[in-house]
Amino acid sequence: MNVMDAIQKRWGCRKFSDEPLDKEDLGTILDAGRFAPSAGNLQDRSFIIIKDSKLKSDIAQASGNQTWMQTAPVLVVIVAENMKVGKFFGPRGDKIYSVQDTSFAAQNMLLAATDLGLGCSLVVGFNEEKLNQILKIEPPARPHAIIAFGKPLEQAKTSSKYPLEKFVYFEKHKNKIADMDVTFGDLKKAKEHIAVKTEEAKKKGISFIEKIKSLFKRKKQEPLGEDHFMEDKSVSNPEEVKHEKANIPRFLPKN
Ligand SMILES: Cc1cc2nc3c(=O)[nH]c(=O)nc-3n(C[C@H](O)[C@H](O)[C@H](O)COP(=O)(O)O)c2cc1C
Repeated sequence: MNVMDAIQKRWGCRKFSDEPLDKEDLGTILDAGRFAPSAGNLQDRSFIIIKDSKLKSDIAQASGNQTWMQTAPVLVVIVAENMKVGKFFGPRGDKIYSVQDTSFAAQNMLLAATDLGLGCSLVVGFNEEKLNQILKIEPPARPHAIIAFGKPLEQAKTSSKYPLEKFVYFEKHKNKIADMDVTFGDLKKAKEHIAVKTEEAKKKGISFIEKIKSLFKRKKQEPLGEDHFMEDKSVSNPEEVKHEKANIPRFLPKN
């Protein structure tokens, strides 16, 4: 499985078979966490492996009674040790870098488990005090995440994700990209797009030459490439402008 496959196939499994997890698989998952980036490479984090049924049940209760967690053969608790990261990087280290250090490790583990054909799910909704008591975690260490691993006993499902258009901006915050296909698509896709838009423009009776002329006029006023982008603030209805822009062929088709 390549990385993009694992990224796209990962899903939150919340029902596991009672088959134990292979030692080698668990080792691979932990190693994936070990290789995650960390601020200053301080690796100020640790992983606690939980297999004991009573402990799993206590942890599930401390996590708002998410009883499904008990069905997983293994839980791994990811702990921010907070011994070094705050000292090196100050308050941002304490508050932000430590969370990122554990989150990157968590994501690596989720992807490794997916690659191994295992189910996995993240739990961060837990009572920290209770979890500290159960696992004897002492400050400054803080548990940041629990991951349940095991063989899935439910169908893989993919949750819907927003399209890139909704949250990708160009060079400044909120500067939306008007046309993702043209901006990121390969040449073939871009050509197909142009052909479709040209056809649409023709059907609407818009003079192609007029459009090209206005396009070049506009290009002179704007920096290179700007015609692919628009700024939210400058328009009253961005959707309308996006639509309008999409109807203007941007390049002369070869045929
Ligand atoms: C910070 C954070 C906290 C989460 N806490 C829980 C949790 O307590 N219980 C749970 O079942 N899932 C939890 N999740 C998993 C999300 O619900 C899940 O990732 C989201 O619904 C998207 O589904 P997917 O993982 O299948 O793509 C958490 C995820 C994140 C990032």
